[in-house]
Amino acid sequence: MLLQEIGQTGLQGSRLALGCMRMAALDSGQARDVLAKAVDLGFNFFDHADIYGGGQSEERFAGAMAELGLKREDLILQSKCGIQRGYFDFSKEHIINSVDGILSRLQTEYLDVLALHRPDALMVPEEVAEAFAQLKKDGKVRHFGVSNQNRYQMELLQAYLGEPLAVNQLQLSPAHTPMIDAGLNVNMWGDAGANRDSGILEYCQLNKVTVQAWSPFQIDLAQGIFANHPDYVQLNETIAKYADQYGVSSEAITIAWINRHPAKIQTIIGSMNPERLEKIIQAETIELARPEWYDIYTSAGNILP
Ligand SMILES: NC(=O)c1ccc[n+]([C@@H]2O[C@H](COP(=O)([O-])OP(=O)(O)OC[C@H]3O[C@@H](n4cnc5c(N)ncnc54)[C@H](OP(=O)(O)O)[C@@H]3O)[C@@H](O)[C@H]2O)c1
Repeated sequence: MLLQEIGQTGLQGSRLALGCMRMAALDSGQARDVLAKAVDLGFNFFDHADIYGGGQSEERFAGAMAELGLKREDLILQSKCGIQRGYFDFSKEHIINSVDGILSRLQTEYLDVLALHRPDALMVPEEVAEAFAQLKKDGKVRHFGVSNQNRYQMELLQAYLGEPLAVNQLQLSPAHTPMIDAGLNVNMWGDAGANRDSGILEYCQLNKVTVQAWSPFQIDLAQGIFANHPDYVQLNETIAKYADQYGVSSEAITIAWINRHPAKIQTIIGSMNPERLEKIIQAETIELARPEWYDIYTSAGNILP
């Protein structure tokens, strides 16, 4: 699989990362099988969060890693923190304690990347900077990033940090495109022109921050996947048409659609099904033409100005 630099870290991460949010639902044998398949297909980047499965996803992953005898230095491990039950918490104490929990569950001495999971309205940037500096000094975290943040939230935090933020994890699928819609509808009245995230995609491109696309197959977490969804018949038909044309799976066309964006987006794949991972990886073999990319975009119900 294609490798690409993550932010300005020097880390060479696989273009597709495996998201381990759903790993807690697997037994240890299934977790081992999906990790083995992912590594075999070239995934070297794994995304976690302290809240996934209440910590069990990280534990299941560590067990699978040990069973397979995978070397820590061959994998890039990212986790996230900052979501508490009913609120968000970017306090220094919470960040540092969360990392200790993550390291213990993942059975590792360091994280390659720690990302702040969802913006905390009460964030004090100096405090976050202190937490990051402490974690770095103690050798517990090598690089830092954010998730679900807009440009100004990133700029605010960045102003207090000694190194560039590496990633911003944002929701993106052909059925969830607000950060693309806004750029296509600048200065227009319609809803699509609403600038919901202050040009975050362009901001990240400009500042060499890797955008990580989460839930690439979903409409959103409440409505589920768009495959076979009655509101997305045309999108599914268009994707199926290109799957047929290129001789790959529909899953591959979906991921190829994200890959086609020049921002070098790293997609976080949530499938825990080894057979589906094989279908998804076919995305590596194709590059959609510009009209095809726009055809998929408009088939999801988006209207071009
Ligand atoms: N930063 C954030 O706020 C945030 C939020 C959510 C997620 N994430 C990250 O993003 C990762 C991916 O999220 P996700 O799991 O929601 O993403 P996803 O890859 O869009 O969804 C995968 C899920 O859809 C299922 N599925 C069923 N039919 C499918 C089909 N035809 N094609 C593809 N998938 C199908 C998969 O089942 P099978 O297992 O059977 O394939 C799996 O349960 C997570 O693991 C997590 O690391 C981050």
